[in-house]
Amino acid sequence: MKGPKVLTVALALLTLLALKAYVDWSEEQLEHPPAQSTQPAGPSPSTPPALLGDDPAELLLHLNQSLQLLRRSIPEADAYWNRQQHGLLRALEGRPANGTWGCGAGPAAAAQIRDFASYPEQHQRFVLHAECRDFPLLLNQPHKCASPRPFLLLAIKSSPGNFAARQAVRETWGQEGEPGGWAVRTLFLLGTARGEHQPDLRRLVVHESWAFQDLLVWDFEDTFFNLTLKDFLFLGWALAHCPHARFVLKGDDDVFVNMPRVLAYLAGLDTARARLLYTGQVMANAAPFRMAQSKYYIPESFYEGPYPAYAGGGGYLFSGHLVRALFLAAQHLAFYPIDDVYTGLCFQALGLQPEAHAEFQTFDIAERDRDDPCAHRRLLLVHRRSPQQTVRLWRLLHGPQLVC
Ligand SMILES: *[C@@H]1O[C@H](CO)[C@@H](O)[C@H](O)[C@H]1NC(C)=O
Ligand SMILES: *[C@@H]1O[C@H](CO)[C@@H](O)[C@H](O)[C@H]1NC(C)=O
Ligand SMILES: *[C@@H]1O[C@H](CO)[C@@H](O)[C@H](O)[C@H]1NC(C)=O
Repeated sequence: MKGPKVLTVALALLTLLALKAYVDWSEEQLEHPPAQSTQPAGPSPSTPPALLGDDPAELLLHLNQSLQLLRRSIPEADAYWNRQQHGLLRALEGRPANGTWGCGAGPAAAAQIRDFASYPEQHQRFVLHAECRDFPLLLNQPHKCASPRPFLLLAIKSSPGNFAARQAVRETWGQEGEPGGWAVRTLFLLGTARGEHQPDLRRLVVHESWAFQDLLVWDFEDTFFNLTLKDFLFLGWALAHCPHARFVLKGDDDVFVNMPRVLAYLAGLDTARARLLYTGQVMANAAPFRMAQSKYYIPESFYEGPYPAYAGGGGYLFSGHLVRALFLAAQHLAFYPIDDVYTGLCFQALGLQPEAHAEFQTFDIAERDRDDPCAHRRLLLVHRRSPQQTVRLWRLLHGPQLVC
């Protein structure tokens, strides 16, 4: 073919691709989130029957009992979150909830915070939208878990611009397949790009989703303080589209996972532990950061009290069997802006404590070991690695020349 002809063919192909992407996108736009995730937590929690297991009454009873225990560990302080949560707990007892509830209630909640005006912008935004829990799914992968039943579902928190991080995960530890007969499936969880001066990434993300079929994208701004919302929407999605995954690994897109070791660890669990698994690097006796410069800053008028024990959000494992109960628990717990703390709280509300596992290193390892594949071979998960480091480590770990 001559130059111009090649160009014409190439252009035609590109146009077709763009058209396909556009059609996919418009179709997905029409798609609604799974019915369950549209249930806002409100003063009269009505639990949709589809949510509950064979014995819904039993699950609710159990949750109610453990929530009563939780209540005692939440100080009856004047702080915003404490008030919201005690209001919700009252609702569970059938008493009128007198907190400020629902997606429209943000301004009223803000009005009750004495120093709201001095909150950093992201804290203000959090309060103003805290109980908005219903956002449409723009890109879905409804058949991700169709068959075989996933042994391990990788649910990786990412954000629209992190193309290279996602690609590194896909090419390395996050490859889908059935290594050793254990079905592994991968999903990246995304919101939409935030900020006035964002380049428009939508077409690229649609194309990526079409090419790899591993993106879940919801129509909310992908910010640090919206990660709890992302977790919540993911639970609703998993309940609707992946209720039978044996285990879930929830993590960031910049972790390195030693997948053979993770699979061997999970396969070796006895049935009882496998059903109630929640493990990672455990933060016990933690409390809110009160320094305004910290990424994790929480003002005193926002929350008072200690944090529940929780597994560091860089990466942790839990049993897929618990998704239903977690999603139910989350409907009775006010959102908290730090997602791994909130997850710990949901487990606590079910009466479950995280189990510490020394091979999760969410604050990284000694500097001299960071490039050493042998140091990584003895671990399950390390945070954080650049896409390039991930690819290099993975090649070394799986290469024939590795001698440890
Ligand atoms: C939850 O427990 C409280 C106190 O034990 C009880 O009054 C309430 O009726 C229970 N609520 C539900 C929904 O079971
Ligand atoms: C909600 O009711 C409780 C118990 O009656 C009361 O102590 C609390 O002050 C009320 N909160 C609000 C915001 O009205
Ligand atoms: C979370 O996303 C919603 C919807 O896009 C947005 O209105 C809100 O400001 C975001 N919250 C934070 C804390 O960024």
